[in-house]
Amino acid sequence: MRVLVTGGAGYIGSHTAKELSNQGMEPVVYDNLIHGHREACKWGPFIQGELHDLERLRECLREHKIEAVIHFAAYAYVGESMKDPGKYFWNNVEGSLSLIRAMRQESVNLMVFSSSCATYGIPESVPISEAEIQKPINPYGETKLIVERALHWYAQASPLKYAALRYFNAAGADKSGEIGEDHTPETHLIPLAIEAVLGKRDPLKIFGTDYPTRDGTAERDYIHVEDLARAHVSALHHLANGNDSFCCNLGTGNGSTVREVLDELEKIAGKPVPADPAPRREGDPPSLVADPSLAEKLLGWKAENNLSDILQDAYRWHTK
Ligand code: UFG
Repeated sequence: MRVLVTGGAGYIGSHTAKELSNQGMEPVVYDNLIHGHREACKWGPFIQGELHDLERLRECLREHKIEAVIHFAAYAYVGESMKDPGKYFWNNVEGSLSLIRAMRQESVNLMVFSSSCATYGIPESVPISEAEIQKPINPYGETKLIVERALHWYAQASPLKYAALRYFNAAGADKSGEIGEDHTPETHLIPLAIEAVLGKRDPLKIFGTDYPTRDGTAERDYIHVEDLARAHVSALHHLANGNDSFCCNLGTGNGSTVREVLDELEKIAGKPVPADPAPRREGDPPSLVADPSLAEKLLGWKAENNLSDILQDAYRWHTK
């Protein structure tokens, strides 16, 4: 199958392009390289383009005889989205609508969409199942929810089928060390903690030590990027086999607090991670942990890596 991977030069996109290729499919990467890395596109053709460029997208779908799309391309900085929502609505929403329009016009009917647990906001109950009400608390999460809803209605009115995959905290790196997490600016806990322990940046700030959790620090469900990549390919097979559209969580079902992440990293690095308590970061929920049972039921997918695997692979990538 020939698959267009928008945002395929980015973190999760590049790992998924590699997995598609490993499973005998042909990834065609479409990325504007604003945050992506050209050198992370090694598994098929690369096209530099904007989602808003409808004609370019249509031409690309035609020329490469694309049969399905995995849509990652989006801005994903929650803090930035609070300050500049317009940037997020323009890129994440209008860009996605342009992509769906191009797919409709070229009769490409399968899409796997990169959604987020940020669509749930502050959940009523944890672990979070797909039955949880989606009430985003930032524009980033809102843009992901709007695209999920657009896909829902397009799927009612056309042959389009979609899978919306709501990831929890993507982390880790490709086990062969070929690609990894490389954001500019970096805001995520695991790469920042690794750089702090390697002395490449100032001590980590622990955002909030007064949460109602085991140790007062915020709890997240860290999911290995290779597990996420496998889930995307499984979701594509599921749709291609004629099954219905669906939305599902991708997480491990196990939460780790910031302090637990730092303790585990200390074991791998062999030294303590320099870290200082700091005030809570605006918009951070206390605890986000997935109930991943629907993904297992529908796709036969389960995370294979735990926090220690994630940290070992991320550490290897950062020390390379
Ligand atoms: N954290 C720190 N110090 C830091 C960075 C993070 O203590 O320097 C804490 C955060 O407060 C949070 C946890 O580490 O409790 C994880 O933070 P990340 O920034 O790594 O990830 P988030 O949970 O904020 O964000 C992730 C995805 C987003 C998505 C969001 C949903 O990266 O794309 O989950 O809540 F929107």
